[in-house]
Amino acid sequence: MDYKKLLADTVIIEGIDSEEIMSQIVPSRDKAHGDYSLPCFRLAKAAGKNPAELAKEVVGRIGCYNFLEKAEAAGPFVNFTLNKQSYAKDVLEKVLSAGEYYGNSDIGRGKTVCIDYSSVNIAKPFHIGHLLNTVLGAALYRLHKKAGYNTVGINHLGDWGTQFGKLIVAYKLWGDDKDIEKRGVRSLVDIYVKFHKEAEKNPVLDDEARAWFKKIEDGDEEALSIFNRFKKSTLEEVEKIYKRLNVTFDSYAGESFYNDKMQPVLDLLTQKGLLVDDNGAKIVRLGDDMPPCLLVRSDGATLYATRDLAAAFYRKKTYNFDKCLYVVASQQNLHFRQWFKVLELAGEEWYKDLYHVAHGMVSLEEGSLSTRSGNVVYLDDVLNMAVSKSREIIKEKSEDLPNPDEVAEQIGVGAVIFGVLYNNRIKDMTFSYSRALNFDGETGPYVQYTQARCRSLLEKCSYPDCDPDYSGVAGEEAGEVLKLLDSYPDVILSAVEKYEPCYLSRFLVDLSQAFGKFYLACNIAKSPDAVRKARLMLVKAVRGVLADGLSLLGIQSPEKM
Ligand code: ARG
Repeated sequence: MDYKKLLADTVIIEGIDSEEIMSQIVPSRDKAHGDYSLPCFRLAKAAGKNPAELAKEVVGRIGCYNFLEKAEAAGPFVNFTLNKQSYAKDVLEKVLSAGEYYGNSDIGRGKTVCIDYSSVNIAKPFHIGHLLNTVLGAALYRLHKKAGYNTVGINHLGDWGTQFGKLIVAYKLWGDDKDIEKRGVRSLVDIYVKFHKEAEKNPVLDDEARAWFKKIEDGDEEALSIFNRFKKSTLEEVEKIYKRLNVTFDSYAGESFYNDKMQPVLDLLTQKGLLVDDNGAKIVRLGDDMPPCLLVRSDGATLYATRDLAAAFYRKKTYNFDKCLYVVASQQNLHFRQWFKVLELAGEEWYKDLYHVAHGMVSLEEGSLSTRSGNVVYLDDVLNMAVSKSREIIKEKSEDLPNPDEVAEQIGVGAVIFGVLYNNRIKDMTFSYSRALNFDGETGPYVQYTQARCRSLLEKCSYPDCDPDYSGVAGEEAGEVLKLLDSYPDVILSAVEKYEPCYLSRFLVDLSQAFGKFYLACNIAKSPDAVRKARLMLVKAVRGVLADGLSLLGIQSPEKM
């Protein structure tokens, strides 16, 4: 139900159409002013009247409507109070009939959005620095789907660069297949670190590394086979984590995929006179406010930015996207500004459709995790720690759970995801296990718990077969819940528009809190049939929206906890 439209239709002002009136109606901030208000300033000006007089006139002309409890003039405002029962009926029927589709929209219909997220590096630890762009990107992916977009999730793997030459040299000298099999990336990281130590003493190693990287570039069989083994072993590990985080991709085309796609881009830039020589290197000058963009080093090697340019052209051609998002830490601001500018200078108008969705850094609270590997914090260690802590909590709280390990996994991982998606993405944050796992705090487990409580209420109370009596959900506490339920589609849209899943996580906490108050204020189980039915409809609607919202963030909803 669009109340602004309904209300606008009750208002008659000579010479002004209802569209214009509707554009002035706003939800009231203060309950004392009803549910919606119409400030009359602008309309009065157009009608050549005094605002307070106009407000009175308007109220005098409003007829009788079922959905409207009252309309009052208060100075230059008309304040509308909706009929609580008919509002409750509207909202609950709307939410329950849409089911899991509630909140879906079609603003993205016919449009394609590419989202580049996670984009981990081969043979490097999947560490906490990749946590936020992974869960943030995956949430944006699902939110865009919900808004009707055709979405393409891309893992732009860091699988190219001279470091792979180093790794091959290290592997040939010290690699231990059994250890790699057992410890995966951690084993590769160890020999890579060793390489750097040794190369300081023995610079010949660096020359060898360059030679091996050249072999990879040239497609040498041995080089590629070793490199592909590193890639496979890294991806196997990374995919286990993606599974835990409910993260998926449509494409794993990483940097190496663009090895043969950079030259045409360099040619184009040369043709346009943009790519110029600079002491043997090739750069594009970007004007006074940015350093030039280096695209080919003097030894002929291409760079991260060269591959990003090639990838952008490829994505435009392959997916013909309307938008392409890059979910990457704000440390890379300059990198993105630079190569976006190169496209602009090259006259590629679609550079305007590229967005760097920048985010801050996540660090762990001091002393909360001792790593086996110095100062790198591996993501699976973080998840395991959160899961084992939640296992302890549920052991105390609900000892008779039939599947405590499964639930601990859902709560622990959910707490981590929710914890890092609770703030505006650009802010740096310190992750704390105890804060994220507080069942009464503004946390994932709190929302999960509210959802489970709704489920158990629905199981325990019989759902009567009579017409609901909406007076059972006409009180103030229920009103707050209904308003929030009503706003869910708008919350999704603003999260999509601003690339801010935190709008959704905050909403889920608000809804859980409002539900908690409603639950305390009325006795659902003992209320008369028709009233209980209306209340259980509300419980059902809340449960559905909480579970849907959690799943958009990548979080599961345990049945019991
Ligand atoms: N692999 C890069 C890193 O870890 C992130 C890549 C982001 N995506 C991109 N198209 N540049 O820093």
